[in-house]
Amino acid sequence: MASRKRRYRKKKNNNAAIVVTMILLLIVTAAIALTAFLLINHKTFSDLAEGKAFDPVQETTEEESSAAEEPAEPEIPEDERYYFEDGQMHRGDLILVNADYPYDFDANANSDVVKIRDAKIIKCAMASEDFELSGSIMTSVQVMIEDCNEAIGYEDTGISSAYRSLEYQQKIYDETMEEYGKAYADKYVAKPGYSEHHTGLALDMGIYRFDGYVGTFSESNNAKWINNNCQLYGFVRRYKEDKISITGISNESWHFRYVGVPHATYMNEHNLCLEEYIEFLRTRTEDMPLVVACNNGSYKIWFTSDEYIREPENPFEVSGNNVDGYIITETLIA
Ligand code: DAL
Ligand code: ZN
Repeated sequence: MASRKRRYRKKKNNNAAIVVTMILLLIVTAAIALTAFLLINHKTFSDLAEGKAFDPVQETTEEESSAAEEPAEPEIPEDERYYFEDGQMHRGDLILVNADYPYDFDANANSDVVKIRDAKIIKCAMASEDFELSGSIMTSVQVMIEDCNEAIGYEDTGISSAYRSLEYQQKIYDETMEEYGKAYADKYVAKPGYSEHHTGLALDMGIYRFDGYVGTFSESNNAKWINNNCQLYGFVRRYKEDKISITGISNESWHFRYVGVPHATYMNEHNLCLEEYIEFLRTRTEDMPLVVACNNGSYKIWFTSDEYIREPENPFEVSGNNVDGYIITETLIA
């Protein structure tokens, strides 16, 4: 009797052990299943604690994941940096001056505009002996005029307008409006403060014989030759018929703007006005520059809106675009 009781107790103990083992097995299986679920769904135990484990997974866009994977740009060491100066965005051969972007007189307070006759470089006839231009472009103007005269066989290429102060532009605008009306003035004369003539980098060409003859430029051989060749000297014809809707100014066969040889070459080859070229250059970075081979060398051209760049190893020039950044022109081969 006693032994049956013991057997019965032993059997009861065995059953309890089986139940405990099964419960433990269940717990382990549940833990494994939960861990697997969290791994598959990119969740963590803290998501579980915060109740976010069963939220739907947010898909990462291709852009986000590649941005996350992209290594950070290495910092440019301080002694290799070229910082842009105050006002530099509004100075230089490539500044865009039009009805939207006025000329910044303050940023250009130290401009190199000088009286043409005093500089004794440009020899041609001019509508006024008091005309002024940027000293930096005088040799280019003189060589272009000499080459034009030689090509067409007449010594009559001259200058009909050059640098204009704010007051002088106002006078021209008022006089044009009085004589031809506001609609005409707005088509051909920029409002004071918004004229390229303020830069000293723009000039109007004319036909002037030393015997006093003043011809019409538009139809002349001089106009044709300068139109076809101005880029060799760094100039572009700024206001063309097919760009009126962009420049806001009517066709002017006489108005030329200095931008530099590589830029003028690219603009003319691709029929881009300055507004279009400035826009296009915004897509060109140091790593993906525009490379231009032209008559005076080969250049790497790129844009930045940063406050400094790594100082280029090649000789370089910086021009602001007068809008939102800087254009760097590195000389690769001169
Ligand atoms: N004729 C040009 C547009 C000017 O006045 O600046
Ligand atoms: Zn002009």
